[in-house]
Amino acid sequence: MTRLPILPLLLAVHVLSVILWIGGLAFVTTVVLPALVRLPAAQRIPAFLEIERRFGLQARVLVLVVGASGGYMLMRLHLAGLMAGAHGLWLDGMVAFWALFMLLLFVLEPAVLHRHLRERGARDGEATRALLLRGHAVLLVLALIVVTAAVLGVQGVG
Ligand code: HEM
Repeated sequence: MTRLPILPLLLAVHVLSVILWIGGLAFVTTVVLPALVRLPAAQRIPAFLEIERRFGLQARVLVLVVGASGGYMLMRLHLAGLMAGAHGLWLDGMVAFWALFMLLLFVLEPAVLHRHLRERGARDGEATRALLLRGHAVLLVLALIVVTAAVLGVQGVG
C-alpha cells in the first residue's frame, strides 16, 4: 500500500493558508482601506470594523493552520536547530511574523484595539483610516519579505 505523502501535503496546506491569509491582508490594504474615503468620515471606521470582523475569523483560523502545519514540518524535518544560526533567518522570520499576528488577532484586537479604533474613529474618521492604512501597509511589506525569504531559504539561498 502506498503511504500518504504527509510532508508535501502539509507544505501545500501551509502555503495555501499563507496565500489566503496574506491575500486577504493585501485586499484590505490595497482595496478596502483606500475605498473607504468614498464614505462620510464618521462611517469609515464602523464600515472597516464590520468588514474586518468577517475577515478576522478567517484570518484567525488560517494563522492557526499555518502555525500547526509549520510547527509539524519544523519538527519532522529537524529544522529547529537551524533557527539559532544565520542560515535559519528565513525560519526565524516566519515564526516572528506568525507570533506577531497571534498577538494582534488573539490578544490585542479583542482586548484593546477594536475599542480604541471605535473611539478614535468617532473623533477623526479620516486620520484613523490613514493610520490603519499605514499599519496594514507595513504588515503587508513584512509579509512579502517573509514569503520571499522562505522560498529562497528552502532553496538554500542565504
Ligand atoms: C510558526 C510559524 C511557522 C513555522 C514553524 C513555519 C515553518 C515552515 C517550514 C518547516 C517550512 C518547510 C521548509 C522546507 O520545506 O524545507 C515552511 C515553508 C513555507 N513557509 Fe512557513 N512557517 C511558519 C509561518 C509562516 C508564515 C507566517 C509565512 C508567510 C507569511 C510562511 C511562509 C512559508 C512559505 C511560502 C513556505 C514554502 C517555501 C517553499 O517551499 O518554497 N510560513 N514553513
